[in-house]
Amino acid sequence: MFEEWQLDTQRLGRRVLVHDSVASTNSLACELAQDPGNDGVVVLAREQTAGRGTQGRSWQCPPGAGVLLSVLLFPPLVLRQPALLTAWAAVSVCETVRAVTGLQARIKWPNDVLIRSRKVCGILIETKVSASLAAAGSPPALYCVAGIGLNVNQQADAFTLPGLEQAISLGQCTSKHHDADGVARTLIGRLDEEYDRLCQGDLATLEACWKWHVGLLGKQVEVECADAVHQGRLCEMTFQHLELELRAGEVLKLKPEAVRQVRAK
Ligand code: BTN
Repeated sequence: MFEEWQLDTQRLGRRVLVHDSVASTNSLACELAQDPGNDGVVVLAREQTAGRGTQGRSWQCPPGAGVLLSVLLFPPLVLRQPALLTAWAAVSVCETVRAVTGLQARIKWPNDVLIRSRKVCGILIETKVSASLAAAGSPPALYCVAGIGLNVNQQADAFTLPGLEQAISLGQCTSKHHDADGVARTLIGRLDEEYDRLCQGDLATLEACWKWHVGLLGKQVEVECADAVHQGRLCEMTFQHLELELRAGEVLKLKPEAVRQVRAK
């Protein structure tokens, strides 16, 4: 059993399926991807029993303490860029944090959102082909599930007991209790606004906001890839590539997908 919100948005969240408890909102959204009519549907849960994080890790959140949601998208070809979709989710979270608390959040490459250098939100983007649509003889429909876990009302012990000392919640930052459903609605609204702008062909606004929230352009950084760690000045950062000036006149171009970590030096 679940309730349904119907938000007055352009493309995302016109249907929000609100569950008390699910295994993982990402897993449920992937099941919904078998029907392309579910494009833009959001799955929201008060509790996850098997929340998934990046690199096979789990995502833990006490019932009702956070926003746990997944957005199902069938993005047009031009938006099927991993760095772009990650940036879209991360920038929307930063804007939500700003709207709810007045605080400025930062993006830690590739997809964590930090306040005061501590993680307030994790993002798990999964891109897959819809098996049933591919089997029907139509071109394979590529879908994307953007899962967002935003810490809202956890207190310190919710993080220290499982050894997550680097995590923080909005409530800890403001010393206030926040209405998690209200935060979820604000977040869905921001995701929708940003996605609508992308669908209208404006990728530049998001790219500029993303660069600003990452905050490393022009700085000396360490870039970690699978096979090497590079050091230099980050002189450009787009959805297609990162440019690292190793020394005067020598610039290394890296694809964002190849970059595991970017750290200020
Ligand atoms: C990370 O490891 O930082 C990413 C965490 C992503 C967690 C969210 S919570 C909602 C959605 N459903 C999941 O199972 N995972 C994502």
